[in-house]
Amino acid sequence: MIEKDFWYKNAVMYTLDVETFQDSNNDGIGDFRGLISRMDYLATLGINCIWLLPFYPSPNRDNGYDIMDYYSVDSRLGNLGDFASFIQAARERGIRVIIDLVINHTSNQHPWFLEARKDKNSPYRDYYTWSKEKPENPEYEPAFKGEDNSIWEYDEVAKEYFLHRFYNHQPDLNLANPAVRKEIHQIMGFWLALGVSGFRVDAAHILVENDDPKDQGEFHDLIEDMREFITTHSRDAILLAEASGPPEVVGKFFKGKERMHMMFNFLLNQHTFLALATEEAEPVREGIAILPEKDFSSAWLNFLRHHDELNLEDLKPDQQKVVFEKYAPNKDMLIFGRGIRRRLAPMLNGDQRRLELAYSLLFSSPGTPVIQYGAEIGMGDDISLPGRNSVRTAMQWSPERNGGFSEASPSKLPRPSISQSDYSYKRLNVIQQQCQPGSLLNWMERLIRLRRQCPEIGNGELEVLKVKHKAVLVCAYRLNFELVVVHNLGGEACEVTLPLLKEDHESLIEIFSDSAYPAPKESEVELNPYGYRWFRIRKKEVHEEAQQKKKQQK
Ligand code: NOJ
Ligand code: CA
Repeated sequence: MIEKDFWYKNAVMYTLDVETFQDSNNDGIGDFRGLISRMDYLATLGINCIWLLPFYPSPNRDNGYDIMDYYSVDSRLGNLGDFASFIQAARERGIRVIIDLVINHTSNQHPWFLEARKDKNSPYRDYYTWSKEKPENPEYEPAFKGEDNSIWEYDEVAKEYFLHRFYNHQPDLNLANPAVRKEIHQIMGFWLALGVSGFRVDAAHILVENDDPKDQGEFHDLIEDMREFITTHSRDAILLAEASGPPEVVGKFFKGKERMHMMFNFLLNQHTFLALATEEAEPVREGIAILPEKDFSSAWLNFLRHHDELNLEDLKPDQQKVVFEKYAPNKDMLIFGRGIRRRLAPMLNGDQRRLELAYSLLFSSPGTPVIQYGAEIGMGDDISLPGRNSVRTAMQWSPERNGGFSEASPSKLPRPSISQSDYSYKRLNVIQQQCQPGSLLNWMERLIRLRRQCPEIGNGELEVLKVKHKAVLVCAYRLNFELVVVHNLGGEACEVTLPLLKEDHESLIEIFSDSAYPAPKESEVELNPYGYRWFRIRKKEVHEEAQQKKKQQK
């Protein structure tokens, strides 16, 4: 028995944008009704939590992360009634929903900002941070280097400068203002009442710096305040922080049961890519070793790619160089001087063996896995699209027009579907892969099922075992069962000795692998190039008991 069953520690998450998932009325824009029509697909894929990208009314200049109204649904995507039906459809299938809580900034079209800029005495003026002069040598660089060159923007109407850490159309909220804190509570309360299971707290590492603009960089009580609110108003909803940075910075977000329940694991993400690029296991070992301490109730959310760039900021320059050279050989694949704007499948040349290795690594990393829509079929990217839109093309359901996403004329879509190359929807789509037993999609379904049956990954204790082979990573998880997962990151077959079988252990039972292998001899394990094998350790007592029972039955 697991002591306490925290649902988010044994979930498999799936992130999607309503706008690009399924269009129900053929106006070219994905919508909630379309998403509802795909809920059985998601349920049978096996995921049990959806992280929904922002769907609020928005001028849509930052893919919806520029919000105009926190209490509604963008009319292009549906209405609140459709949202409630979606939550109901998810719940009926045992799927939870987490939504984006974007409170570091609003759109400059939000009524708060419109009021704030035109009237100095408006109570909304203090919802934002202003300065009469443009501050010299600002402490922070803009988040999107190359697109914005300052975090202060002059507003013609207010006749002052306002702070914005992201785009200049996204004024930062003054989170030290108690009235803003109240608004945050009200927003959280509203969506909790509609049945969400938690929030992805957008840009958490930046909003804690805006917590007190006079004392930037320090942690104040914003996060604790949000945690207290969510704990009081919901039995099991969670706060998931999108916070990147070095271990000592991200470590602050976990503080027993007072701060975040969950955090995106940017550190392990970057180290995993370094390991894939170098074909060596050491970077993953290091990525695990540097993770800051956390309470038993907290969890890491592991990912490979999502809707943003693959940010490599926390690797050393020579390490970044290795990953950039391997996975972003052309300049136009890079963005903001720190990241790669590609999906995983093209980075790995569409090689299913290496894709399986990467996802097997992800699903066995300590914590909970999340995949981006389309990852399950190995969707590609469109580098000709500007910025991060390259990885945000419509879901590819079938070989039909627009990949079955919409029957509208392609010119009506938010961005064109991928119709050229090996990644075209004509060849690469859900229907085609459902028909092929060996497809990535069918494999991914098995992986998801397997992960959900291995609670020790989210709850157990991990020991990374030492083996002689540089390319081989061996992770052992201990809880009630024991699980051992072995990965060969290299392109050469090999054999390793697992330093783990104790006296009371009898044998290894294979539960998942890249191909059929001979049963391991004692602790000798063979691996194909890029091979992976998952084992349960069968304990001697269990085995002996079973033998005795058999004897008695005879
Ligand atoms: C983080 C989101 O993931 C990203 O897409 C967005 O541009 C920034 N926050 C600003 O809201
Ligand atoms: Ca539509």
